[in-house]
Amino acid sequence: MNHCRICHKQLSPFMSFGKMPIANGFLTQQDFAKEQFFELAPAFCNNCQMLQIIEQPAPEAMFHENYAFFSQTSAHMTKHFATLANQIQTDYLSTTRNPFIVELGSNDGILLQHFAKANIRHLGIEPSANVAKVAQQHGVNTLTTFFTTKVAEQILNTYGAADIITASNVMCHLPNLLDIAEGIALLLKPTGYLIFEDPYLGDVIEKTSYDQIYDEHVFLFSVNSVANTFSKVGLEIIDAICQPTHGGSMRYILATKGKNPIHHRVTSQLHYEETLKLQEINTYLNFKKNCEHSKEQLLSLLDNLIAENHKVVGYAATSKSTTVINYCNITTKHLQYICDTTPIKQGKFSPGAHIPITAYETFANNYPDYAVLFAWNHAKEIFAKEQNYNQQGGKWLTFVPNVKIL
Ligand code: TYD
Repeated sequence: MNHCRICHKQLSPFMSFGKMPIANGFLTQQDFAKEQFFELAPAFCNNCQMLQIIEQPAPEAMFHENYAFFSQTSAHMTKHFATLANQIQTDYLSTTRNPFIVELGSNDGILLQHFAKANIRHLGIEPSANVAKVAQQHGVNTLTTFFTTKVAEQILNTYGAADIITASNVMCHLPNLLDIAEGIALLLKPTGYLIFEDPYLGDVIEKTSYDQIYDEHVFLFSVNSVANTFSKVGLEIIDAICQPTHGGSMRYILATKGKNPIHHRVTSQLHYEETLKLQEINTYLNFKKNCEHSKEQLLSLLDNLIAENHKVVGYAATSKSTTVINYCNITTKHLQYICDTTPIKQGKFSPGAHIPITAYETFANNYPDYAVLFAWNHAKEIFAKEQNYNQQGGKWLTFVPNVKIL
């Protein structure tokens, strides 16, 4: 029997994407035989409103010394975190003496490097040793470990309580969210703020962006479900701000209950969630149908292009693409390769379907007829730099919100 990770009520999945490999598990040919698979099946908890996947591989299988996701691969994300660092300093720390900021899942230091440069006391917690090392090289004080209540106690003893705890695209990765929330409540000053952002369930439902569902994303949050979870440790949402990142995210600002005014954005977002019927199981059954329709359309479009002898490739080997490729049964017959700018992914093969991952230059030096835009969330940045491809007749194929050739 499955149980909700937050309120422990019984849970059953509303759909299955089938057997999935580790989303960031780019692998060499020698590793094909020992590739791990798990059942990717999302479920919605009627009680606490949390959307979650039932089964998740062990954290150590996803986050390790060869972790393939480096935050600073997108110029847009680099700018996004520079702006966030600035906002935190001006809106939350300007009157604080000797402030201390802690980031969970600090990756390559994309955010904390700004605090390091400003000589602000900071600490990054990052379990993947290779990305943590990059952060350390940028002068970011980093602890290579998973965050737990025990780690929170150790930080408290060594550094004192935190004025800010932050996490970006990390909180939704943490299956032991309640333990994490307790650790946060322990480490945060009563006057402190928890600021985190993650892909937003409302966007996933509206855009049928089912590719946000993969092993690392054990939860897909709404304002409602975040409020329910963190109220268990005495924190409340005082602001909720929509973000364009990751194809539609939400930034949540939380503080000790009753200490701050609640911004009207929180109430209007909760109202929006009601109009979207995020609290009803039928919404998820419709989502399932939309996913099936999207799958059929994408596969038949690719089949047709191949039957017409077009050269089709993938653009950007995102974690999200692992769900799309494996759910839609896209194979090496459809895509000659997927190009990606991340060195650790190049020369390897995509999880599950084993499509070769090549350097960006493979694409730039010999344009295909069609490129499937797996990093659809970076479309603006990519289209701006790929004008030459368009001018030479190259076409983009997207699947969010609908399958179409652009
Ligand atoms: P992202 O959407 O952040 O991926 P994920 O689904 O894993 O969260 O995209 C990051 C990946 O896309 C990373 O592998 C680098 C690749 N990428 C390119 O190859 N070229 C680009 O222009 C951009 C913006 C990303």
